Amino acid sequence: CGIVGYIGNQDAKEILLKGLEKLEYRGYDSAGIAIRNEEGIKVFKEKGRIAELREKVDGDVEAKTGIGHTRWATHGKPSVINAHPHTSTSGRFTLVHNGVIENYEEVRTEFIKDVQLTSQTDTEIIVHLIEHFSNEGLSTEDAFTKVLKTIHGSYAIALLDSEESETIYVAKHKSPLLVGLGDDFNVVASDAMAMLQVTDQFVELNDEEIVIVTKDNVTIKTLDGETINRDPYTAEIDADDIEKGTYAHFMLKEINEQPAVMRKIIQNYQDDEGQLKIDRNISEAVKEADRVYIIACGTSYHAGLVGKEYLEKWAQIPTEVHVASEFSYNMPLLSEKPLFIFISQSGETADSRAVLVNIKEKGYKSLTITNVQGSTLSREANFTMLLHAGPEIAVASTKAYTAQIAVLSILAQVAARDNNIDTNVDLMPELAKVTTAMSAIIDDADRMEEIAREYLSETRNAFFIGRSMDYHVSLEGSLKLKEISYIQAEGFAGGELKHGTIALIEEGTPVLALATQENVNLSIRGNVQEVEARGAKACIISSEGLEKEEDTYVLPHVHELLTPLVSVVAYQLISYYAALHRDCDVDKPRNLAKSVTVE
Ligand code: G6P
Repeated sequence: CGIVGYIGNQDAKEILLKGLEKLEYRGYDSAGIAIRNEEGIKVFKEKGRIAELREKVDGDVEAKTGIGHTRWATHGKPSVINAHPHTSTSGRFTLVHNGVIENYEEVRTEFIKDVQLTSQTDTEIIVHLIEHFSNEGLSTEDAFTKVLKTIHGSYAIALLDSEESETIYVAKHKSPLLVGLGDDFNVVASDAMAMLQVTDQFVELNDEEIVIVTKDNVTIKTLDGETINRDPYTAEIDADDIEKGTYAHFMLKEINEQPAVMRKIIQNYQDDEGQLKIDRNISEAVKEADRVYIIACGTSYHAGLVGKEYLEKWAQIPTEVHVASEFSYNMPLLSEKPLFIFISQSGETADSRAVLVNIKEKGYKSLTITNVQGSTLSREANFTMLLHAGPEIAVASTKAYTAQIAVLSILAQVAARDNNIDTNVDLMPELAKVTTAMSAIIDDADRMEEIAREYLSETRNAFFIGRSMDYHVSLEGSLKLKEISYIQAEGFAGGELKHGTIALIEEGTPVLALATQENVNLSIRGNVQEVEARGAKACIISSEGLEKEEDTYVLPHVHELLTPLVSVVAYQLISYYAALHRDCDVDKPRNLAKSVTVE
């Protein structure tokens, strides 16, 4: 899931371990490094945390070149044997790899069927194939290039050759990888954050390129051998943003940052006169479209569900929201002039990228809404709108979700203005009210902790219900809770629970209900009574103006369509405390990865 590499004059292993620690937030289940000195290549691997790998790495080993990896298991379970780096039979080549090699069975049978494999990974095939082509007399560069032309799938690879102490070979296809530049050293990283400790100058790599990294040089070539010049860019990430500061967890820090992120979005998307402002090309693309297709995964998909309401209710553009992995293989009938909007915090999610590649081939236009400037989805789409949320480190997404919704609201309002539709909404002051409301809930964190204790401390399962906007937030609330507390939680449309799942309601089953929408206020309360009649313990969270005596918590009033930005903050905090009460690893929940770069 994460790759680092270093070549220079300093102690490589320390820089590699620190880099891997910075990537911990992305989720992983094993890790390893390979370092190269006069004695050859030495590999250290460990299951579990980087801290355990650190203990294993012999303090006396000095080396100035090395590569490292955190693995999130796809082929083969998490274990020391399956952890990267992987080494060829003779010990000459060692590499780390992110991604999935789709034709590894074919490659194995065709070229290396006699090689004894030690792991269950697809990665091991790559390193043996390099050795195989090298044994045929090819130079390492040529052998590597031939391998890249032979394998199919997704990959980011960093390779060491024990006979060439001065070089790291690098390549990528569909998986992210960058080269970082320094004085007297160069680095490799799948995420700039890993190497901000030593440089903020990075060079983007494209698919179908091979890169030869030495201490003083970075040479990028196409697979046909043509040299490419590409300028570096400055990674605009403040190193402090990736530290927890005084917060107990990144998740709590990121929940607390949401009012500030809203202010930043307001600043970035208005002109000097306070009018909404987005790139003209984007508003024109929206104007030309007869239908919008929002494509996303996980939390970003849930933000898309809210975004659809804005595009339809304000801008009157028909909008569909699709889970990327389903859309890829089961595409609906498309309209004549579709516009695709990809929503992705990381901008790297492979499922979404697969759709982007596909619709680009068909000639359709695309906009990526992402938190990461220069990310793959941003570079490959026609347009980008940034979230300005700052790095999100906790695996469970919080501030990116609210930022996505805010940016979608701006996009929809601009589209409405362009179509001369009067929505009766002055968005920026409304978003400013949201900011204040978010702060009020954050100030009430103690109350959220009590709610978590009262409703969620003992339970094995929980249900979230809501109607219209509240339904979308119920899906996100239940996802937050299950991601970090491992409580089995499900989000339902208020009226739907009774059509089957109500069978699961027992004495004391928690049901969290949102009541922030006037036109369904009575019906959601009816649904609460249905579950209470079957023994459920209901927690009702309503909005000022719609509250009733039985409510557990009342949210400050904001524009009705903007309530998701506020109600979700309550759910984020309740989930956070529920996870804390259960001693869960809040920032790095089991089995999850922050950005999933495999399909
Ligand atoms: C992973 C993360 C989720 C996230 C999803 C989409 O599964 O664990 O938290 O919502 O990917 O990520 P993206 O970066 O595309 O928003």
